[in-house]
Amino acid sequence: MAVAERNALSIGLISQKSFFCLFSTPSILFILSWFFVLRSTGHPHFIDYSFFPNSKLRVVVDSGNSEPQHQSDNEPSIKNSPVVIEEVPQENNLVKCNPNKVLLKVFMCDLPLEFHFEFLDWKAEGKSVWPDLHAKVPEYPGGLNLQHSIEYWLTLDLLFSEFSDHSNARTAIRVHNSSEADVLFVPFFSSLCYNWYSRVRPHQKKSKNKLLQEKLVRFLTAQDEWKRSGGRDHIILAHHPNSLLDARIKLWPAMFKLADFGRYPPNIANVEKDVIAPYKHVIKTFINDTSDFDSRPTLLYFQGAIYRKDGGFVGQELFYLLKDEKDVHFSIGSIQKDGISKASRGMHSSKFCLNIAGDTPSSSCLFDAIASHCVPVIISDDIELPYEDVLDYSEFCIFVRTSDALKENFLINLVRSIRRDEWTRMWARLKEVEEFFEFQYPSKEGDAVQMIWQAVARKVPIVRMKVHKSRRFAHYHAPKD
Ligand SMILES: *[C@@H]1O[C@H](CO)[C@@H](O)[C@H](O)[C@H]1NC(C)=O
Ligand SMILES: *[C@@H]1O[C@H](CO)[C@@H](O)[C@H](O)[C@H]1NC(C)=O
Repeated sequence: MAVAERNALSIGLISQKSFFCLFSTPSILFILSWFFVLRSTGHPHFIDYSFFPNSKLRVVVDSGNSEPQHQSDNEPSIKNSPVVIEEVPQENNLVKCNPNKVLLKVFMCDLPLEFHFEFLDWKAEGKSVWPDLHAKVPEYPGGLNLQHSIEYWLTLDLLFSEFSDHSNARTAIRVHNSSEADVLFVPFFSSLCYNWYSRVRPHQKKSKNKLLQEKLVRFLTAQDEWKRSGGRDHIILAHHPNSLLDARIKLWPAMFKLADFGRYPPNIANVEKDVIAPYKHVIKTFINDTSDFDSRPTLLYFQGAIYRKDGGFVGQELFYLLKDEKDVHFSIGSIQKDGISKASRGMHSSKFCLNIAGDTPSSSCLFDAIASHCVPVIISDDIELPYEDVLDYSEFCIFVRTSDALKENFLINLVRSIRRDEWTRMWARLKEVEEFFEFQYPSKEGDAVQMIWQAVARKVPIVRMKVHKSRRFAHYHAPKD
């Protein structure tokens, strides 16, 4: 990767880290509070307490965790206040706070083998339920299973943290004392479990997927760690939209890692407490991409499943609107295993890649498009995107409201109106951000694994507050007879 790109990327990462450093810097908080006071000159009282919890203080507590779609436009202060932070010279922060400092201490719940590596045909040696990664790294099954393999990469990263040196800007380390941990990680490979075991076999009353979920609930809720926090500091993976369908209703106080909120009622999962993680792309990474606007012949590319139910009608409508355009590739049917290299060629030679809400708001196409440096055109009004608190998707994606996209010629005119220089800017940005979506072992600085842990770290202050609140009356329960 070119040096310039590297720098651009590291600026993003550094500013994030400096942001954490700010937490521990009372003087910055002092400056911030003065800033708030100055901005609140309209208020009759010098410090208006009703004013802090609502908006301003949330900036400090939430750190990067504010979700734009939840902020009304009449709260401009939230957007403005980080300006103060940017005025603090970044180099000073780096000197004061070690940028390599681990952000997140993670305790790994010792789930029995049947919840994780047994799926990968790994057999326990001795007492440990965890593989010795020095000896052999168990392999996750390939094909489309990989799209939801975040469970595998995060677990491997925690195991690896025990014998890697911590200087290379690693975000999370495994700790063995749960009292010292920021969060508790539940390594249930729930997406793989759904993919493989959701069918009821002839001799079974219930599918293995259901049985394991029941077992998980029993196991977790019996642990002291769970009782201590009501599960609020636990991390549970349910990336496949259909995974953990039963257990989620019982384990919802935990922080879920999800692809989207499509199949969840807001009280079970929401942007406040949960983390959206990317799909792993199945399209080949475009290495040494020297293409340009003119060398990508296809204007707009779509290859995907289109469902009639739920929000999927949009795909049907778009198909009829676009099917006669010569430089548009619109092909219905999800990518099968043997279609991957064909789709890779297609996306690598297209300027724009269409991403339509399917039966859920998220779709794997987006991450395939990013890996192909094919500028994503997103038509999904309720989509939630990974790390959007630190990443501005409008720099490399085009968002179109569903109601607009369904107007005749709207979409095709919009896409045709985008000029070479604008497209090239987005393409260049895609090449910068693509590593944020790359899952690998061992994980590298700034890849998807580190970005996800950082997103978790940004939630830790909220988790702590919730746990503390839940303890307010815990000591005064009337004894049960
Ligand atoms: C775990 O950490 C807590 C808090 O730091 C400490 O009091 C406790 O003794 C530790 N437990 C063990 C087994 O080391
Ligand atoms: C990409 O470019 C680098 C440097 O020019 C070269 O070493 C590498 O082999 C190329 N990779 C591919 C897959 O073409």
